[in-house]
Amino acid sequence: MNNVDMVEFKFFGDDRGFLIPIEGLKNIDFDIKRVYYIYGVDSSQRRGFHSHRDLKQILICLNGSVDILTKTPFESKVTHLDRPNIGLEIGPMIWREMFNFSKDAVLLVLASAYYDENDYIRDYNNYLEEACLYFGEKR
Ligand code: TYD
Repeated sequence: MNNVDMVEFKFFGDDRGFLIPIEGLKNIDFDIKRVYYIYGVDSSQRRGFHSHRDLKQILICLNGSVDILTKTPFESKVTHLDRPNIGLEIGPMIWREMFNFSKDAVLLVLASAYYDENDYIRDYNNYLEEACLYFGEKR
């Protein structure tokens, strides 16, 4: 879908285990300004419920599994993340919700900018208004 892509990372594996390197502007398409991770989430919890205006992020489930709903006013999809070599890249103006966290899930997020509350749209009706303009103009 628009502004949402899967990214597959190359891993180096041998009898010692696995290693995956990620370098900003080399094997991902933005420079990494911020990293955070989410863990210890009860399976009944749903997180996210927002969009970003400009931010790009890549979500990687390092351990366990989680489902990610991405949506625009025109399309939506659910991506099941359960492999440390697969990332879900989410670009601007995508509403996202994270749910079905397994007990052991660790969700790593790489972000293109520092934390900025002004980049968030947290109200769904406001999101629909801005996103209709954004994707309407892009079509
Ligand atoms: P929140 O936006 O509620 O997380 P989620 O998107 O998973 O629902 O963030 C939880 C708290 O962490 C909130 O008080 C803001 C803070 N926070 C930062 O300080 N820096 C960050 O980079 C992020 C993502 C959140």
